[in-house]
Amino acid sequence: MRPIRIAALGGSLRSGSVSAAALRVCAARARAAGAEVTVVCGTELVLPPYDPEVRFRSAREARLLAALRRADGVLLASPTYHGGMSGLLKNALDHTEGLAEEGYLDGRSVGCLAVAWNEVAGASALASLRASAQSLRGWAVPMGVVVPAGTEFTPDDICTDPRTTRRLDILTDQLLDFARTHRAGHDPAPHRTPTPTTASRA
Ligand SMILES: Cc1cc2nc3c(=O)[nH]c(=O)nc-3n(C[C@H](O)[C@H](O)[C@H](O)COP(=O)(O)O)c2cc1C
Repeated sequence: MRPIRIAALGGSLRSGSVSAAALRVCAARARAAGAEVTVVCGTELVLPPYDPEVRFRSAREARLLAALRRADGVLLASPTYHGGMSGLLKNALDHTEGLAEEGYLDGRSVGCLAVAWNEVAGASALASLRASAQSLRGWAVPMGVVVPAGTEFTPDDICTDPRTTRRLDILTDQLLDFARTHRAGHDPAPHRTPTPTTASRA
């Protein structure tokens, strides 16, 4: 049986990004469990503001959509910016309109984490990630993590805070467990027949 495939999206454009580090911690745990992980992080997410009237697809956008299309599970990691997810990640998610006719993230598990100084703002950002995941028809796993912005990571991406590590581990394990039991439709099941574009935003 082929390995579970995970698309890990997020991080910020800042060197030393905590959300990127947390994403890499989850990616490493998923790989250790045998998953194939494609990380699309930081500058790799820089895309023009999504324009519904533009049909041109850049190589970067094509790579993003290909990673999502292949994935059984998706990991989203964002800094908290003014109580929500970053514009960088939201814009990248807007570009998943390119997957509308395939049902967006239908059938995929989605694990979300937000980084924040303020836990209330972090909870809002986490909620915005989970809302987008669900709007894209993904299955947000029960665990969500707000990573304190002051969390430290070693150069080889070990999180030095055991409590945060434990939460990131649970998040990753739930993502993988769901993906294993509900493999996404690269081989579409009858109930996942592509929806006509006109009904795709239901
Ligand atoms: C534009 C901007 C807005 C921010 N808004 C919030 C906020 O509303 N609440 C909060 O707790 N932290 C906020 N922060 C702090 C970031 O969430 C925090 O620095 C985080 O570590 C950034 O993620 P990164 O390390 O991946 O770049 C903001 C930072 C920036 C640059």
